[in-house]
Amino acid sequence: MEQLLTVDDAERLAEAVVPAEAWGYIAGGAGDERTLLWNREAFSRCRLRYRILIDVSDVSTETSVLGTAVSMPVLVAPMAYQQIAHQDHELATAQGAAAAGTLLCLSTVATATPAAVAGAAPGAARWLQVYVFKDRSVSEEIIAEALDEGFSALVLTADFPVVGIRDREVRAAFDVPEADVPAYRSARQRIESDDPALDLLDAGVEWGYVTELRERFGVPVIVKGLVTAEDARLACEHGAAGVVVSNHGGRQLDGAVASLEALPEVVEAVDGRAEVYLDGGVRRGTDVVTALALGARAVLVGRPVMYGLAFGGAKGVQQVLEILRDETENALALLGCRSPAEVTREHVSTKYL
Ligand code: FNR
Ligand code: LAC
Repeated sequence: MEQLLTVDDAERLAEAVVPAEAWGYIAGGAGDERTLLWNREAFSRCRLRYRILIDVSDVSTETSVLGTAVSMPVLVAPMAYQQIAHQDHELATAQGAAAAGTLLCLSTVATATPAAVAGAAPGAARWLQVYVFKDRSVSEEIIAEALDEGFSALVLTADFPVVGIRDREVRAAFDVPEADVPAYRSARQRIESDDPALDLLDAGVEWGYVTELRERFGVPVIVKGLVTAEDARLACEHGAAGVVVSNHGGRQLDGAVASLEALPEVVEAVDGRAEVYLDGGVRRGTDVVTALALGARAVLVGRPVMYGLAFGGAKGVQQVLEILRDETENALALLGCRSPAEVTREHVSTKYL
């Protein structure tokens, strides 16, 4: 078997075992996949400014997100339909994330219910990602179940009013595995429509729903999928506790700005009022510290986790996350930082960004 040293190794191991239809869905992006590419490329346009002669004999990657302790500033992004990658689906991902000591964000359109995920990894840190169905009670029942099971925040994904044009996915003939997804089964019972499953989501959601979620459920709400200072300010005005700078991993609007390019303006606009996270293209510990230097509190990783799940179930997820943890620890030490909190804007040059 090929050596597993890097996230890119994990990608090759996964591609060898995942059916072609599912691979088109997991690895692909929207349109010409320009944003998918830019998400990666933006990291290679930053240059780290490391400092020397600082005692780094004791480095820790530990940090916290909204007060929840995590082993590293790397969280698991929400991803739909995980049984297409491995029969143990989200349950294995939850166990792998817990073993690596970090937080899992569960998708609304997961194969496993919030209760099953909580049962698979009791006591682990968890958030619920929210998609809003045309009948809002479908989403709100899942939210209520998750909060009963100890999920501690809601992540409202806001870059998905409609699904992006995903030519790679269409060419690969990927079919949404509707029958395996509890949220779709519940939506089909309540929404009269012959449209594809993703069209059962509500394209009419506006900012007021951030306030409504917060007031109704009494937990922190994080807005995921913004790339502008304007929206970052609106998120704060509507009481968001966090924002995820994200373009959905290049899967929605092709041509959208890379997440890393958008990070500085969002950090400036938020001005400390909320925690700022980033996802899209994080594949190395050096990417993690670059995002921290530009003001992110933590990053989320999507596809890398799906790759680990595909080739190794819970163990594979844990291995991929530990690669990122070890690389982050190494990058911190070589930057001259003993913890994520010591990484500052001075540690990166964006002359080329
Ligand atoms: C996603 N993403 C996603 N986001 C979300 O809010 N709800 C979801 O159900 C899904 N589903 C999903 C499935 C798959 C297969 C992928 C690859 C992604 C987007 C995800 O949370 C995240 O924003 C990106 O994956 C980050 O980019 P990287 O790390 O994959 O480059
Ligand atoms: C995706 C959705 C379901 O990116 O979030 O495929």
